[in-house]
Amino acid sequence: MLVRLEDIHTYYGKSHVLQGVSMEIRKGEIVGLLGRNGVGKTTTLNTLMGFVKPSSGKLIFKDTDFTSYPSHKIARMGISYVPQGRHLFPKMTVLENLKTGMLYASGNGGLDRVFELFPNLKRLLNQRAGSLSGGEQQAVAISRAILKNPEILLLDEPTTGLMPLFVNSLLEIVRRLNEEGMTILLVEEKVPFVLSLSHRIYFMVKGRVEHSARKEDLVGQTDIFLEYLGVHP
Ligand SMILES: Nc1ncnc2c1ncn2[C@@H]1O[C@H](COP(=O)(O)OP(=O)(O)OP(=O)(O)O)[C@@H](O)[C@H]1O
Ligand SMILES: [Mg+2]
Repeated sequence: MLVRLEDIHTYYGKSHVLQGVSMEIRKGEIVGLLGRNGVGKTTTLNTLMGFVKPSSGKLIFKDTDFTSYPSHKIARMGISYVPQGRHLFPKMTVLENLKTGMLYASGNGGLDRVFELFPNLKRLLNQRAGSLSGGEQQAVAISRAILKNPEILLLDEPTTGLMPLFVNSLLEIVRRLNEEGMTILLVEEKVPFVLSLSHRIYFMVKGRVEHSARKEDLVGQTDIFLEYLGVHP
């Protein structure tokens, strides 16, 4: 077991957003997290990163209880985050943005690996991040996250605003990262993208995980997607 959430409750002020979230992610898996708008997917990731503290429940990484850790310690422990909307520094260059991810980098091979995955970034290093296309910005955001050489990468809605061509190359990149050993927790509204990548899928409803299934067991299960997402897969 790499990461486990045990009965996590998280509030924003008086609003009880996560109402007992439990899930586990094994080393080497891609796990999809699906649910309608506002059910608490991003809050789950924010809780994992320590940006918001759960009022009860436990977060476990390997054998360590990290529920009370500050965010920087969680990042250093091996959890990296590509937030919804990417959160780049638009006025800083690509290289400056990448450097914010290199604080905890080990060795100097990080950038080479990034250029291997995203060869186009090399010629964009001195451009301001805000001037890039959606696909290029997502490449910077993912690069910044993997420069920390995480054991697990949390991806929140990575295809938002991408042209179809970029969606396909993103899919290949996520798959490749996983094949090279990175565990991935994927929040994404494009169901085919999630189905194509994930080994297992959790379905969230109103602050709780209501259903989990292996990808193989979801083939032809149209009613599950209708029930939890209101869409046909
Ligand atoms: N900073 C905040 N302060 C107060 N309430 C918030 C905050 N962030 C989110 N919420 C509320 O918490 C609930 C869960 O939000 P969250 O962003 O986790 O949902 P989500 O599943 O990621 O949705 P989406 O699919 O739209 O990204 C929503 O009702 C949202 O309005
Ligand atoms: Mg969200």
